[in-house]
Amino acid sequence: MAVIKAAILGFGTVGQGIYHILNEKREELRQKLGVELEVAKIVVRDTSRERVAGTQHLLTDNIDDVFAEPGLQVVFEAIVNEEPAYSYLKRAIENRCHVITANKVMFAKRGMELQELAKTNGVFVGYEATVAGGVPIIKTMKNILLVNDVSRIQGILNGTTNYMLTKMRQENLRYDEALAEAQNLGYAEADPFNDVSGQDAFKKLMILSDLAFDEQPDWSEVEVVGIDTLTEEDLAAAKEQGLRYRHVAEVEKDASGKIIARVAPLLVNAEHPLYPIDDVFNAVAMETNYIGTLTVTGPGAGMYPTASVMVEDYAEIIGKRAGFTVTI
Ligand code: HSE
Repeated sequence: MAVIKAAILGFGTVGQGIYHILNEKREELRQKLGVELEVAKIVVRDTSRERVAGTQHLLTDNIDDVFAEPGLQVVFEAIVNEEPAYSYLKRAIENRCHVITANKVMFAKRGMELQELAKTNGVFVGYEATVAGGVPIIKTMKNILLVNDVSRIQGILNGTTNYMLTKMRQENLRYDEALAEAQNLGYAEADPFNDVSGQDAFKKLMILSDLAFDEQPDWSEVEVVGIDTLTEEDLAAAKEQGLRYRHVAEVEKDASGKIIARVAPLLVNAEHPLYPIDDVFNAVAMETNYIGTLTVTGPGAGMYPTASVMVEDYAEIIGKRAGFTVTI
């Protein structure tokens, strides 16, 4: 059976999740895809810490070791920040490797460029994990766009802050207690300022804007307000009135064709579609011309939901490459 060699760049929560799923699903993936996947290298900053038992021999802190691996075909990337992630993926694509990323900071800025480069090199870019964790928003929207136009997107795109708002409302946790819980559960970014300030949701929104409208608004014109502007008193007052705060990201194309976006807390009542979306869940509503409004919802952060969609991207890419659609 043919062997596909892969590398994992970054071995934090998401990188480890990929490794676990690939191991747990090894036999099933082999049967469904007709190929054997071998993780040949794992890139980390500190090779002295094994993190997952039995992976020491795969660890390297030198990206050159990855590209020196004969027959490498797939690169999973779960690093934080734009660099060195962008340079690594560019190099991977130029080396004719398929790339699968969870890096929204990098992809919001460089996604279009990497996809263009991938086209000219005959490889695929999987980026389902960059937006809304385990929610299959990218593949759903790609499908919808085959027939529909999307005019507006509104959603909860950050799991950490939705979890925090839920716990503060339901269990009267303080802001810092709720944040600590979200960090312990592996939901928050390495620097949780990105979650609570709205920057994480903003980057995800820009990726959706690229997909829906083929362009992004001018970043400097987008108002981004985080949940760090809300006080415990604000939340208590909302609860008293039977209302809920949701951290909402929205982007739309106005009548003149201009792309307008905003990220901010929104107070919603029981009739609002985002009212019941609690815990780490994300939800994305898309307004389309033929379907009407379609909303997808599911876990928006966490090791397994995020890693799962990356392995799904891998299965889809291998299926496309072999000219078949992967089904169960
Ligand atoms: N910190 C992010 C969140 C992780 O809470 O949504 C998933 O992108």
